Amino acid sequence: MTPRTLGAGAPAVPPVGYGGMHLSLQDRPPEAQAVEVVRSALDAGARLIDTADVYCLDDSDIGHNERLVAQALRGWTGDREAVLVATKGGLTRPAGRWDRDGRPEHLYAACERSLRALGVERIALYQLHAPDPDVPFAESVGALAELRRQGKIRWAGLSNVSVAQIRAAETLVPIATVQNRLNPFFREALEEGVVRYCEGQGIGFLAYSPTGGGRLNRKLPDHPVLRPIAARLGVSAHALVLAWVLAQSPAVVAIPSARRVEHAVDSVAAGSLELSAEDLGAIDRAEFSRA
Ligand SMILES: NC(=O)c1ccc[n+]([C@@H]2O[C@H](COP(=O)([O-])OP(=O)(O)OC[C@H]3O[C@@H](n4cnc5c(N)ncnc54)[C@H](OP(=O)(O)O)[C@@H]3O)[C@@H](O)[C@H]2O)c1
Repeated sequence: MTPRTLGAGAPAVPPVGYGGMHLSLQDRPPEAQAVEVVRSALDAGARLIDTADVYCLDDSDIGHNERLVAQALRGWTGDREAVLVATKGGLTRPAGRWDRDGRPEHLYAACERSLRALGVERIALYQLHAPDPDVPFAESVGALAELRRQGKIRWAGLSNVSVAQIRAAETLVPIATVQNRLNPFFREALEEGVVRYCEGQGIGFLAYSPTGGGRLNRKLPDHPVLRPIAARLGVSAHALVLAWVLAQSPAVVAIPSARRVEHAVDSVAAGSLELSAEDLGAIDRAEFSRA
């Protein structure tokens, strides 16, 4: 698995990381299983773990996923220093909703909570979860720059942003990563040029929902184009789709989630799967209905 370069001097990481979101939502698994899943992803070779303060049930449960990641890392026998933990701030979960709050005062308080939940003195990669339409974007990004100056975060990242927003942010703070959605059902990161821009700037593109997300991923095994290719190559349809996502650009790092050990391990292994131009083309041209 050739490591993929991130921006702003952040270390290169293997092409498939692990996203913790599904360990902390309504359909979360038991805690022991959750911890085992994170450790299994690391044992399989993942070195980037994506989490967020809001991967939880609601505002009373903020930090649930960060605490789980910290717990998994504490008891893990591998080299913890080699693991890049990426968290996010900028959303809230009142009554379980997903709301935006990009005010600097919110980001400062959220970062303090994340430091405590992760049990670290400095967050490796801190991402603005999403631009807040009620707050000037430069103010939210300015808060990341300030947190970096204070040494509370090492690298800054963005999520759910356009090329114009990345350009604007780069004038305020070096950007290590951009985390947007990318899978065969949703290709706007390719169509709108975000992946290409990241590649040109040497910024890591963290592909979220890389197998389609919680609902659409379940359509993959029966997909008429994926099924025969997966059978011929002896891999899962999910691994095939991850390999397609990774093939879109050397800037891409996929961060699939999983609640089951075998899914996490299967996904990390997809980082070594290289597809022929013919198979990539067939997936490019295939229809991926979101219905
Ligand atoms: N920045 C943002 O706004 C944002 C938004 C959404 C997600 N994210 C990040 O992206 C990560 C992934 O996104 P996501 O959870 O929406 O989508 P996803 O990774 O495409 O889908 C997750 C589901 O796919 C299944 N799966 C994954 N790999 C599999 C495999 N190899 N074989 C079989 N099933 C597999 C898992 O099932 P099981 O649970 O049954 O194992 C999991 O629940 C999140 O954890 C989060 O870190 C970020």
